[in-house]
Amino acid sequence: MVDAPGIPVGPAAGALDAAAAVDPDRLWRRHMAMARHGATAAGGVNRQALSPEDVAARRELRGWAREIGLQPSIDDIGNLFLRLPGADADAAPVLAGSHMDSQPTGGRFDGIYGVLAALEAVEAMRETGTTPRRPIDVVAWTNEEGSRFAPGMMGSSVFAGRRDLAAMLRVRDADGVSVADALAGLMAAESELPKRQGTTAPAAYLEAHIEQGPILEAKGVPVGVVTGIQGKLTLRVTVTGERGHAGTVPQDERKDALAAAVALISAMQDAIADGGPDVKFTVGRFDTTPNAPSVIPSGVDFSIDLRHPDDGVLQDLGDRIADICRPERAGCDVRLDELSNDQALEFPEALRALVGASADGLQIASMPILSAAGHDARHLHYMCPTAMIFVPCRAGVSHREDEHADADHLADGARTLTAALATLADAG
Ligand code: HGY
Ligand code: MN
Ligand code: MN
Repeated sequence: MVDAPGIPVGPAAGALDAAAAVDPDRLWRRHMAMARHGATAAGGVNRQALSPEDVAARRELRGWAREIGLQPSIDDIGNLFLRLPGADADAAPVLAGSHMDSQPTGGRFDGIYGVLAALEAVEAMRETGTTPRRPIDVVAWTNEEGSRFAPGMMGSSVFAGRRDLAAMLRVRDADGVSVADALAGLMAAESELPKRQGTTAPAAYLEAHIEQGPILEAKGVPVGVVTGIQGKLTLRVTVTGERGHAGTVPQDERKDALAAAVALISAMQDAIADGGPDVKFTVGRFDTTPNAPSVIPSGVDFSIDLRHPDDGVLQDLGDRIADICRPERAGCDVRLDELSNDQALEFPEALRALVGASADGLQIASMPILSAAGHDARHLHYMCPTAMIFVPCRAGVSHREDEHADADHLADGARTLTAALATLADAG
């Protein structure tokens, strides 16, 4: 983990002036414009990674960035960077952003808020004539959600050197389209973009995001200073049985992959019950082959998303799941693949203190809060001093089409981000 040298203890005066220039209406209008890319009938978005909707949203974002005079670039995994030049072009940049891709039944704020808040921050700095010493890069990370291409946080983890680019490019979606193929479509659409050279370690990274939980709203606090992120283990289970006629194969001669998968999941749910109330266990994807009513299923492929704030508990539950996934238990062949295994982390106290002091300097109430959801900040944390800013979302609802956030809260989070970002860009 990176310590946080040279982090100011509080916001610079000019930074507070820039924060005061944040325009809530402009920020809201941009959210509604982005929500048109992949809009669903139920009022949410389906803007999956590297889809035409994702490409169109990126194009609109670049249009706004061009109007502010930001310099775009893209890297080999499709991460998009929009640079506000600094007085010292050679200084390590400060990065701020999040992701633009969504879940299939996603909301209008998850991810995109962090990108638009960062854009708003640099626009407010521009409008107040604030030229930072360090360059500031607004960043949109590729494929944070991992719904089309698993694992998630693909762009940020490759950028931070925590996952291998070639391996990620080989990942395929349910239709067999690889990340490399889908990325070719994006690169063709953004062919005039300069490639980002190398990966200079950023001086710091900030990410604003909706909380995706009920705490800030319940407490009536507009800004959360995120203390850290809980651990997360994602797995893929493939059960292989034998196809057969539903009417003729005797029950005791079957290798029914679906019946086996259901028994495995039931055993897993019994096992995780010992982990207490903090365990989050989700089988979100469950694909059956051939998925025909009168054919005994020969294959089941399902996902596991397991989370816990305590690494020891997470590891123990992961081991118990691996022990359950044994062929002799299932009566079918069982394959268990680990897709991601991320430990719980704590963001540097010095950077959290700057974020809290920035909110204080703007007379915005804030409180410390742990992130139960995963974020790209998880990977940047191992590359540079990293912090997150949460804002409330209605009833804590997210990864649902009725996800909602108030314009005032979005603006308070963006103001806090602006003050901390402008301060960091002049520090060190
Ligand atoms: O799954 C998560 O925690 C994030 O919202 N993608
Ligand atoms: Mn998100
Ligand atoms: Mn999400």
